[in-house]
Amino acid sequence: MEKRNELYAGKAKSIFATDDPDLLIMHFRDDTSAFDGQRVEQLARKGMVNNKFNAFIMGKLREAGVPVHFERLLSDDESLVKRLDMIPVECVVRNVAAGGLCRRLGIEEGRDLNPPTFELFLKNDALHDPMINESLADSLGYATIEQLATAKRLTFQVNDVLRQLFLDAGILLVDYKLEFGVHKGELLLGDEFSPDGCRLWDANTREKLDKDRFRQGLGGVIEAYEEVGRRIGVDFG
Ligand code: C5P
Repeated sequence: MEKRNELYAGKAKSIFATDDPDLLIMHFRDDTSAFDGQRVEQLARKGMVNNKFNAFIMGKLREAGVPVHFERLLSDDESLVKRLDMIPVECVVRNVAAGGLCRRLGIEEGRDLNPPTFELFLKNDALHDPMINESLADSLGYATIEQLATAKRLTFQVNDVLRQLFLDAGILLVDYKLEFGVHKGELLLGDEFSPDGCRLWDANTREKLDKDRFRQGLGGVIEAYEEVGRRIGVDFG
């Protein structure tokens, strides 16, 4: 596999072409961003930790039958993935109220959401990722109703798999964001699953073990990511 030119640099990852037009390399950088990219810092080991965390989770999801773009680990901070035409919409499932939901509706953090909720947001930093819905995403041409229905079904399937996986390690999966794309006509889970894009609380103490540590200036960000990884069985080498 030959690594070629950089195609895209996001806030925490860069995407490179390969000599195979169907495959890309996802490079996890040490950059950490919050508040729609307004605050960016480098955190040592983050690229490696998130790359290996994501590989572990994607492997579990693939075993459970979720179609994923992830192919395999290439190095400490790089993974091989299938090339996707990304749908510019973020799918969020919440099991417990936190973050944007509490701010929007004025409800207290930590309230159980039963059944879990599903929300769609437009991926657009300049507009601060506004909430949208299936009808708008369809009318504006971001995705078809069928693709959105599949994305919703898969996002809930991910909840069934990961909620239990984290709970077995004494961790609450509070909420998470997924992104999907299309590869040869098939909708696949793209992007990443790491503590950057979800909320994870210790099930007993409710200590935050995710990117809220960075957003809220709590410190120990990567140590918390590693702690979660160790508890669920990620091999950081
Ligand atoms: O901010 P909010 O509470 O809506 O976020 C819900 C979940 O989605 C959180 O786990 C957050 O980390 C994730 N998220 C994300 N990227 C965004 C927006 C939210 O990873 N742009």
